[in-house]
Amino acid sequence: NDGFCLKQTVADVITVPNNKQNEVPQMSFRTIEWRDDAVIMIDQTRLPMEEIYQRYTDFNAVAEAIKGMVVRGAPAIGVAAAMGVALGAREIIADTQESFFRQLDNVCDVMARTRPTAVNLFWAIERMKQKAQSLKGSPLDTIRAGLKEEAIRIEAEDLAICKNIGKHGADLIPVGATVLTHCNAGGLATAGYGTALGVIRAAHEAGKKIQVFSDETRPWLQGARLTTWELMKDKIPVTLISDNMAGFFMSRGEITCCVVGADRIAANGDTANKIGTFSVAVLAKEHGIPFYVAAPVSTLDLSLSDGSQIPIEERPTTEVTHIRGLPIAPEGVKVRNPSFDVTPAKYITAIITEHGVAKGNYQEELAALAAV
Ligand code: MRU
Repeated sequence: NDGFCLKQTVADVITVPNNKQNEVPQMSFRTIEWRDDAVIMIDQTRLPMEEIYQRYTDFNAVAEAIKGMVVRGAPAIGVAAAMGVALGAREIIADTQESFFRQLDNVCDVMARTRPTAVNLFWAIERMKQKAQSLKGSPLDTIRAGLKEEAIRIEAEDLAICKNIGKHGADLIPVGATVLTHCNAGGLATAGYGTALGVIRAAHEAGKKIQVFSDETRPWLQGARLTTWELMKDKIPVTLISDNMAGFFMSRGEITCCVVGADRIAANGDTANKIGTFSVAVLAKEHGIPFYVAAPVSTLDLSLSDGSQIPIEERPTTEVTHIRGLPIAPEGVKVRNPSFDVTPAKYITAIITEHGVAKGNYQEELAALAAV
């Protein structure tokens, strides 16, 4: 290789006192931030038992953190990848521009190989590449500084985007609604505030007196561990249910609408999101309950005509056979663990973005929203 400075450091564990370093108003925790030339991330594998923040100074360790779900959720892994690229650029030792850009491509490839489904990851890496290209010919330290600024900008923009998604989506939530959500599309899955939970937060802030039903979201339990944690922290009423209970509550008339996030949305509106989302959408249609998807336009992949082309990640089988290291299935059993499924557009009542809401002709409306 071209002389990577490979510091294979495992992240340092640091504890960030609640709110003390929090520059983001109204957030009771910080998902990811660039601080003192390091990337700080709340460790989502440890929640809700421990609120631990990890400090990363090496891009390979950030890549491992994305793979290992220390950070997860489409927009958040986009921010993490961008910050990882900025760290990688700092680690590169190069005498020439050619050598620097060759090594930067390698850093980007490492980031791109972490998780395949959420398109925000690739969108963020592409944006970092473009930033570097725009500075080509400048001193290497200027390019490094530009990449750091760009990563911080992506994080700040994401928070603003989530607030706008919230504003557009809150109008769709009736007063007194019970909103079902799946997985965690909250502040933990973004730079803060959330997409699906951004809609819920905005409706709550508007005084709509809503409550949330959170699917536990087997096998990784994002709903049980993360969505309940962040909603309880913000005092938004939440009830935890296991995934197989959604139909029961819908059939009893106890769910007003569903709001979920997305990892990749094809040009026709077909939407990849956490495994189990498709089942919720079908149940919602059967019961005449509106089913909303909330996502930034960076989650749109208009290069794909429909959802069948979205790559679906298969994760380790131990996520299904074990819970917190304890086996719950016979040793040696055959297992499948697709981490996402695709909900066909016909089940989706509306797609809420920061630029507005698409309902009906997704092909045209999503293209228009992406072009804003
Ligand atoms: O495997 P995860 O936890 O990264 O999956 C997360 C989801 O499926 C979220 O719903 C999606 O990324 C939207 S996050 C705003």
